[in-house]
Amino acid sequence: MSSTTQKARVIVDKAFRIAEIDNRIYGSFIEHLGRAVYSGIYEPSHSTADSLGFRGDVKQLVRELGVPIIRYPGGNFVSGYNWEDGVGPANLRPKRLELAWRTTEPNDVGTNEFMSWAKEVGSEVMMAVNLGTRGVDAARNLLEYCNHPSGSYYSDLRRSHGYEQPHRVKTWCLGNEMDGPWQIGQKTPVEYGRLAYETAKAMRLVDPNIELVSCGSSSTGMPTFPEWEAVTLDHTYEVADYISLHQYYGNRDGDSANFLARTMDMEHFIRTVTATCDYIKAKKRSKKTMYLSFDEWNVWYHSNEADTRIEPWSVGPPQLEDIYNFEDALLVGGMLITMIRHADRVKMACLAQLVNVIAPIMTEAGGRAWKQTIFYPYLHASLFGRGTSLQPIINSPKYDAQDYTDVPYLDSAVVHNEAEEELTIFALNRNLTDPLDLECDVRSFAGYQLVEHIVLENEDLKAVNTAAEEKVKPHSGGGAECRDGLLHARLSKASWNVIRLKKTYDDK
Ligand code: AHR
Repeated sequence: MSSTTQKARVIVDKAFRIAEIDNRIYGSFIEHLGRAVYSGIYEPSHSTADSLGFRGDVKQLVRELGVPIIRYPGGNFVSGYNWEDGVGPANLRPKRLELAWRTTEPNDVGTNEFMSWAKEVGSEVMMAVNLGTRGVDAARNLLEYCNHPSGSYYSDLRRSHGYEQPHRVKTWCLGNEMDGPWQIGQKTPVEYGRLAYETAKAMRLVDPNIELVSCGSSSTGMPTFPEWEAVTLDHTYEVADYISLHQYYGNRDGDSANFLARTMDMEHFIRTVTATCDYIKAKKRSKKTMYLSFDEWNVWYHSNEADTRIEPWSVGPPQLEDIYNFEDALLVGGMLITMIRHADRVKMACLAQLVNVIAPIMTEAGGRAWKQTIFYPYLHASLFGRGTSLQPIINSPKYDAQDYTDVPYLDSAVVHNEAEEELTIFALNRNLTDPLDLECDVRSFAGYQLVEHIVLENEDLKAVNTAAEEKVKPHSGGGAECRDGLLHARLSKASWNVIRLKKTYDDK
């Protein structure tokens, strides 16, 4: 090892438990936007399409990711959506002007089709209701349509549409980004708080078993953040279970060191929302803890100009089709690490989105489905990030970036899967020029041996994948070693690492 290589030390101990991870932090999102639905998940003429018109190749990739929950149908789309347009005989469904993204919504796919698709890919659905142009009535009717078994107008309507069994949707979002001037039916915090409260009250009367997400700020950059949270929660605290957080980052000025430090902002966001929730809890003398649903997060900036060039009112045009590069995958890994370390409060999260629209999975209409660079850190977290989140004690060299000081080169989260007797260390080396020598004390895990050291690395931070060539993909030759409870690994410059250990028994 070269004498100039910097060193980072980490202590991992079984006893340093943050919380049991709710698997739903590895959720994602499908909105009626761009080609997410039409020629994304749904393309009846595709060679792999099933009897409902859903692409088999896309279903396969979604299954590979093991997505526990998928938010639907928006996003900004939901704030102008009439759910009734998307149910019943397909030939009777209206085509509507879709105002959020200025396209035409054909309503070929609606609630029932999406529920069937979600079941096929093994995901729960987080359903959003329209609190933009609509309100209490449409929300309680949709819930009755989805969850009531039978014997009422909307449940029998569902049955008449061929869905005898209720969908039993447990998680519901009370609107989307209601603080944003771009939102159809934007509200002031008081208007939203009142409407969300009354909607929640009626929905709980229809089905007391549901969980509800109160709408938080659209990003840390909103002028009303965090006052929005304080005012709206004052209304919704006792009827909601979660508050939403949304955040996207981009490397617009080409400063990669600063870009990779953006997780510091995400950290600040989570801490501020948590503190605001706890302030309202104290103010109300409540016993209840409010949890966080980070139900939109990702990198998003590559496609911004292209989106202004779409044909208005077309069906499923290419919108928000960011082509992700290697450094985007590193930041996505960092964002996952941040949420795992906040597993005590962040109980749901959705990588926005899943197919074609700012997505890990891309499709060619009539052609191939392929994996973007960000597919991989998301896959690794979803596969190996299940269990108990442990607090790693990190001692890392640091750097100063444009917007952040004292940014540790090493970012890390640790997950102990007690049932499988597995320990996974997620480690991001943000140093763009040099490797980092990691020494990790895992002595409290007696008998644990190295299984593999997965690495995502690339000489070119701007390398991208295409349908024809996967330039950015992981390998398992990271070279970590574990002896006498000490793990050593050289983390390549600018790399995402997944170091997996498992308990072994001498007689095996
Ligand atoms: O995910 C894309 C858009 O970003 C969503 O529709 C909206 O909620 C957010 O602004």
